[in-house]
Amino acid sequence: MNTVVVGLQFGDEGKGKVVDAISSKYDIAVRFQGGPNAGHTVVVGGKRYKFHMLPAGIMGTGLGIIGNGCVVSPDKLMEEISEIFGDTMPNFKVSHRAHIILDVHVEMDGWEERMRSSKIGTTKRGIGPAYQDKVGRYGIRFQDLLEEYVLEKKLENMKKRYEPYGLNFDVKEIKKKLLDFGRAMRERITDVSLLLNMEIKNGKSVLFEGAQGTLLDVDFGTYPFVTSSNTVAAQASVGSGVPITSIDNILGVAKAYITRVGQGPLPTEIEGEDAKKLRDAGGEYGTTTGRPRRVGWLDLPLLRYAAMINGVREIALTKIDVLGKMDEIYVCDKYIKEGVKYEYPPLDLDGVEPELVRFESWGNILENESVSDIPEVMEYIRFIEERTGIKVKMVSYGERRKDMEYIA
Ligand code: IMP
Repeated sequence: MNTVVVGLQFGDEGKGKVVDAISSKYDIAVRFQGGPNAGHTVVVGGKRYKFHMLPAGIMGTGLGIIGNGCVVSPDKLMEEISEIFGDTMPNFKVSHRAHIILDVHVEMDGWEERMRSSKIGTTKRGIGPAYQDKVGRYGIRFQDLLEEYVLEKKLENMKKRYEPYGLNFDVKEIKKKLLDFGRAMRERITDVSLLLNMEIKNGKSVLFEGAQGTLLDVDFGTYPFVTSSNTVAAQASVGSGVPITSIDNILGVAKAYITRVGQGPLPTEIEGEDAKKLRDAGGEYGTTTGRPRRVGWLDLPLLRYAAMINGVREIALTKIDVLGKMDEIYVCDKYIKEGVKYEYPPLDLDGVEPELVRFESWGNILENESVSDIPEVMEYIRFIEERTGIKVKMVSYGERRKDMEYIA
């Protein structure tokens, strides 16, 4: 059974937690898009692990893969490995086709943000510029790190690309750094598409771990306030080389409310004291950047759309405990725009007003309490199921591995 776990909102849905809960049932964990803009937090034995580039599922599967759809920062990857695993290298492979994020990409990320009249609020990790160079056919790939002559030629080419911006690009220095990194990665750089397909043929199961969320997808998200990769489940195939026919299941992850970092529409946004309460209760500050996240009520028009695009049949609903801290709980079932009601987002989210449905709060969830036994929680869940047509399969109600329940 090969499964894709995908975020149904603006990222930060708690995919790390869900992946961690199910990963021991799989043999291999795969990241298939994005880079160190992601932040998947896993809490094991009271310790918090923050994954940015490696799949968080590696903790359960024992083998992690960074697919061709990813962009990788050498420094950030090495930092992450040392923070999580100390001196022991984890068991992982990286696609020879995955692209490298260079310092110049990080500089360009900041520069582009400053130039934009309408800011995106990127994570400043160089993600956008690295993907631009990939599509522009300037990119440096992992396989280039293994051949000095090839690398030098490509870096010379890239120097010319960035000369007009007046950015410092020292080919010799960058080449040395990348060759060192390439030597450290030599054993790991491989055709992971071939590897994955062979392993699947041998009966191994794969867990594909999406980063960011559907509403940040470069095609299906709230463009231009999106990330630079496709984040939807179909990208699991393109970003790893595993055919769509080998993917059996798609599990969507949604928070019981909604958050977003950076700019862009958030129709159910909550302001003022209530926003602060929810943000603080949920620790809604970016894993990667520490920025306070904007918060809002669960948005069913966006959720329906995201579930449809991904082909999700089951949802893992996270942070239900956090939502219980609010005195009153609301869900947006429809939008109203210029007198017309919408169950799915209209072409332009500008000017939509959420039609909110009120729910009784369930308060604190007690230790050893089963969420299935809390009528207010179940009323909330059944409403979501009924109004989206999708089964809520799992509910997460805390940080710890064990704070997760399957719903009948
Ligand atoms: P970028 O991916 O750094 O280019 O940022 C583009 C947009 O996506 C910004 O609004 C970021 O805040 C957002 N973003 C990128 N990665 C994540 C994530 O993992 N979680 C939440 N938001 C993200």
